[in-house]
Amino acid sequence: MANVAVIGAQWGDEGKGKIVDWLAERADMVVRFQGGHNAGHTLVVGENVYKLSLLPSGIVRGTPSVIGNGVVLDPWALKAEIERLGEQGVHASPETLRIADNCPLILPIHRDLDGLREDASGAGKIGTTRRGIGPAYEDKVGRRAIRVCDLAHLDDLGPQLDRLCAHHDALRAGYGEPPVDRERLLADLREIAEFVLPFAKPVWRDLNEARTGGKRILFEGAQGVLLDIDHGTYPFVTSSNTIAGAAAGGSGLGPSGVGFVLGIAKAYTTRVGSGPFPTELEDETGQRLGERGHEFGTVTGRKRRCGWFDSVLVRQSAAVGGITGIALTKIDVLDGFDEVKICVGYKLGDQTLDYYPTHAADQAKVVPVYETMEGWQESTAGARSWADLPAQAIKYIRRIEELIRCPVALVSTSPEREDTILVRDPFAD
Ligand code: GDP
Ligand code: IMO
Ligand code: MG
Repeated sequence: MANVAVIGAQWGDEGKGKIVDWLAERADMVVRFQGGHNAGHTLVVGENVYKLSLLPSGIVRGTPSVIGNGVVLDPWALKAEIERLGEQGVHASPETLRIADNCPLILPIHRDLDGLREDASGAGKIGTTRRGIGPAYEDKVGRRAIRVCDLAHLDDLGPQLDRLCAHHDALRAGYGEPPVDRERLLADLREIAEFVLPFAKPVWRDLNEARTGGKRILFEGAQGVLLDIDHGTYPFVTSSNTIAGAAAGGSGLGPSGVGFVLGIAKAYTTRVGSGPFPTELEDETGQRLGERGHEFGTVTGRKRRCGWFDSVLVRQSAAVGGITGIALTKIDVLDGFDEVKICVGYKLGDQTLDYYPTHAADQAKVVPVYETMEGWQESTAGARSWADLPAQAIKYIRRIEELIRCPVALVSTSPEREDTILVRDPFAD
């Protein structure tokens, strides 16, 4: 099986974009299967920096790219992103980009609702990206969504729109908002339909054909396992399954087509938005990690919270996410620390835990148990082979492998595409 699924093993922003771009050189197709434009994937190629939210990262190399049915698609955000990338010389055409015609749309009313709920939640705020992701998935599951294929049948949308608006009008009234302006919504959809429809296809056919033809398919996950709707730190999660299993349902290829699952993990931990974070450092060390790692959100510009590597969480992610091997990124950010710490367990009252408890109150209460290792003063930045790494950095990586019970397949040593060490080729598995 030559296919590879890349998923985040922490709370997102692990460097998935960089690794997908690197692997895309050898892929025949890159597929997004969940999430939406809440994602922010950064690719650095020489002097050029590309920031992708909705488009699969393969598009930068010109690798045929697919947005699968598991994604929630904001058609206006799609247009803006395609135009922005066009200015950078990256062109998405119906030949290079295909969008599943059964993909549900994010509408302006979803964005409204996301913001209204966040503003009304006080301390219970999730800290969403306010892109309308949660409300759009709710409408999909509630069988009220408007999908890409509907854009070709807008004159027949009546009953569907009745169902959608009845639901949203009731919610909006509760927030003191006027009912949905149906005429305006239809007019906006008519206008954007022209742009989106040339990309729309039953992509499951292309994927199955590619698979039968022995092509290499690279799945690009968004967010991370700890933000998964089932396995993450609920309710401080996103509204989709981010685990590798979602690649099958979110693309139309089936579970046996997923292949090697490459989990991306930073050599430390970050989180953006609310929710528990056992190893968070609200001190100078945390600040140093944030500064060295440039930890600001790609999508919202929000400062990311930083802390030490948590092996309990990544071990759990590897288990529930179906991870075969890890790509450890941003090891260079730890250069120059006298000592580095790894969380190896938790204390919850007088109990010792080797897993993350399920309830949010317990998740917030656990106290990490740390193992301290000597740091390294040499630079790992830009290293492209194992031999370029200082002995202490190798020890750190080996210890992580042991603790998370999963081999390291790749190590990333800078934002730049080529600054990557290959330990075990995911495509060769
Ligand atoms: P994604 O959402 O998982 O694709 O990750 P983001 O792009 O949101 O955030 C990762 C950030 O780290 C980006 O700015 C990358 O350019 C950068 N990055 C990726 N790998 C490395 C690395 O090995 N070292 C350093 N210093 N930065 C990296
Ligand atoms: P990438 O793909 C990091 C977080 C938000 C919030 C929670 C729910 O770049 O790794 P949502 O808008 O999805 O309803 O927000 O999830 N979040 C991310 N955090 N990286 C992401 O994507 C994220 N996408 C959503 O900050 O806490
Ligand atoms: Mg990101």
